[in-house]
Amino acid sequence: PRIYIPADSGALALGAEKVAKAIEAELKERGVEAKIVRNGSRGAYFLEPMVEVATAEGRVAYGPVKPSDVKSLFDSGFLKGGHHKRWLGAPDKIPFFAKQTRLTFARCGINDPLSLDAYKSLGGLRGLQNAVAMAPADVVKQVTESGLRGRGGAGFPTGIKWKTVLDTAGEQKYIVCNADEGDSATFADRMIMEGDPFVLIEGMAIAGIATGATKGFVYIRSEYPHAVATMNKAVAIARKAGVLGPSVLGSPNAFDMEIRVGAGAYVCGEETSLLNSLEGKRGVVRAKPPLPAIQGLFGKPTVINNVISLASVPIIMDKGAAYYKDFGMGRSRGTIPIQIAGNVKQGGLFETAFGLTLGEIVDDIGGGTASGRPVKAVQVGGPLGAYFPRALFDTPFDYEEFAKRDGLIGHAGITVFDDSADMMKQARFAMEFCAIESCGKCTPCRIGSTRGVEVLDKLAAGIEPEKNLALVTDLCNTMKFGSLCALGGFTPYPVMSSITHFPDDFKPAPARVAAE
Ligand code: NAI
Ligand code: SF4
Repeated sequence: PRIYIPADSGALALGAEKVAKAIEAELKERGVEAKIVRNGSRGAYFLEPMVEVATAEGRVAYGPVKPSDVKSLFDSGFLKGGHHKRWLGAPDKIPFFAKQTRLTFARCGINDPLSLDAYKSLGGLRGLQNAVAMAPADVVKQVTESGLRGRGGAGFPTGIKWKTVLDTAGEQKYIVCNADEGDSATFADRMIMEGDPFVLIEGMAIAGIATGATKGFVYIRSEYPHAVATMNKAVAIARKAGVLGPSVLGSPNAFDMEIRVGAGAYVCGEETSLLNSLEGKRGVVRAKPPLPAIQGLFGKPTVINNVISLASVPIIMDKGAAYYKDFGMGRSRGTIPIQIAGNVKQGGLFETAFGLTLGEIVDDIGGGTASGRPVKAVQVGGPLGAYFPRALFDTPFDYEEFAKRDGLIGHAGITVFDDSADMMKQARFAMEFCAIESCGKCTPCRIGSTRGVEVLDKLAAGIEPEKNLALVTDLCNTMKFGSLCALGGFTPYPVMSSITHFPDDFKPAPARVAAE
């Protein structure tokens, strides 16, 4: 039999390594031969560590498994899929997975992430094979027609970005993958790098072929050591197998890549700051224009895309633009890996076509709060995203629909808060976060965020509430329209949404007490 135990860092944080050790020891003690495969995570973190056994009838999952469960698991005939209190049945039938549409994450968590054979057997490399047989402009056309937009947060059409690079002359061009996943509540980039690294490599190679870039870099945040290790190993395997190198899959196209590690600054997830950091300079934002597509890494034309944007390209090149475009709503085509976190019962990664409402995501998929108290607010799009109250739960997950309601979907991380959350504190946290992470290049962000903390502190102390509330609003407008990049420019979203949707939390202290 084969036993699958995730080595994904989320699962490891929940004790997967101890479970693996306990299973190994139990096999030894019972004299049973079994192969342990360390897979990635399928993304249901509320069920991790989720252990699976391959039986004659298919896979059977158990979770969340604790080391203390292992003996009784074996006693219940776990190697044959026997019943146990941790028994979950066939993974595909578990509602959290059954309700998903997995295109980008189709393989994630199923097998050994470093087995290229497993990757190929599950449909891997078909997109790249198609791409090497096509003219670069046709590859760009496919990606444009698929409707894929930047999954890092800004939602800029990927094909149009690639076209700019293809049409810009340059002896050397680069593909840079932004894996500096800094947003709170987001882990899609990490999960796919640890669980299906070849899909990112394949996506980057396709991007290279489409734009004439022969070299790629993945810039991974230092907080992701497991992703760094897996990506490094996967690149070496892909190179050895001829997926990367002077002749990609035997074609005349050359493409190779390297993994680089960041040093822990949130602002290095901003594309121009990331490029500076890659060049060995301080991670300070560059003014745009010039766009990185025209003058990017080392001044050369550069495609810079988020991990999920690039990892979504292989399926588009395999099944065609129309197949991908068929999913979604409005101008938001395809699927989006929603990362559900915070005070929520069923946290994890849920890939689905655009269009589910926020309420469906939080209540039906997430199962409401972990604390059992009512949901008060949901922050969508990381620390710089807006807080949405229940009244906005009918908002469909779509770039434009969120923008219409002064929100953003960003990198699709959502953080759930129950009714014990103090939104004034959350607003202060946003300003404080901005003050700490500001690169310091522009005044609205560098000075504004510190002044923002001070004014919110005055509000909390009940000092001149009307005047200070007006001052925060004014400050937010200055930051929104005067900042050079999204860090200063988006900090007003959490602040202003808190003020707009939760005005009671901004009343002077005695009134707040009376209201409560
Ligand atoms: P942006 O709107 O300035 O740019 C979007 C992308 O399109 C950039 O790569 C830009 O270079 C490119 N672009 C624009 N016009 C182009 C053209 N004509 N040809 C080729 N490329 C073109 O947005 P920005 O500042 O890059 O990103 C802001 C977003 O980042 C926010 O929406 C936020 O949600 C997200 N974000 C994500 C984080 C994460 O951890 N993933 C962290 C913080 C923010
Ligand atoms: Fe730097 Fe903040 Fe200005 Fe962005 S908004 S360039 S992080 S100071």
